[in-house]
Amino acid sequence: MLVRFRSGRVNMTKKINLGVLISGNGTNLQAIIDASEAGSLDAVVKCVISNKVSAFGLERARKHGIEAIHLDHKQFENREAYDAKVVEILKERNIDLVILAGFMRIVTPVLLEAFKNRVMNIHPALLPAFPGLDAQKQALEYGAKVAGCTIHFVDAGTDTGPIILQKTVPILENDTEETLSERIHKEEHKSYPEAIQLFAKGRLSVEGRRVRVLPEADK
Ligand code: GRF
Repeated sequence: MLVRFRSGRVNMTKKINLGVLISGNGTNLQAIIDASEAGSLDAVVKCVISNKVSAFGLERARKHGIEAIHLDHKQFENREAYDAKVVEILKERNIDLVILAGFMRIVTPVLLEAFKNRVMNIHPALLPAFPGLDAQKQALEYGAKVAGCTIHFVDAGTDTGPIILQKTVPILENDTEETLSERIHKEEHKSYPEAIQLFAKGRLSVEGRRVRVLPEADK
């Protein structure tokens, strides 16, 4: 049987609450905050959690008056215990959608079951090609001619969940990992808010592996 899931919440007039998990710079986080503040996103970033104390994304959150939480994974016995604490924090803040934005940790069923079909990730490659680490380097070394980014719902695998959006960029003759990453990043910053907005508007229907983008509701 095909299990269907429709995104969004019952009261669609309200903005949805986002909890963003990061480990680093947080340029995607920044793009999401900017879109939210500009009013082009029916979502607000309620809290940012980082497993790394030095993550610049925490600083970005604070600058915008967003709660920034450092949750050190080394303080927890295993991944499940860490995720249980993450779930507790997110639930306390009524988070509707969990956004992984450069979160360099594997998430466990503890988080995925608590937020079923409500965890998104962005990956700097056109999945299913080049999953895992160093995706841009993998694409270059393979000799691919196009690259891009993928936004997907997270499942128990590594970068294997149902795909929401993909954007392509060319790979140029003289590209290095840095120049390609920069080109991909630019697309990421447009695409992540776009995918979140589709979710917030209840326009994503997950049917098995396929995510259907439903037409915009009449205003
Ligand atoms: C992005 O390239 C994203 O695709 C990957 O991690 C990177 C995070 O970059 N998952 P930033 O911290 O948002 O700048």
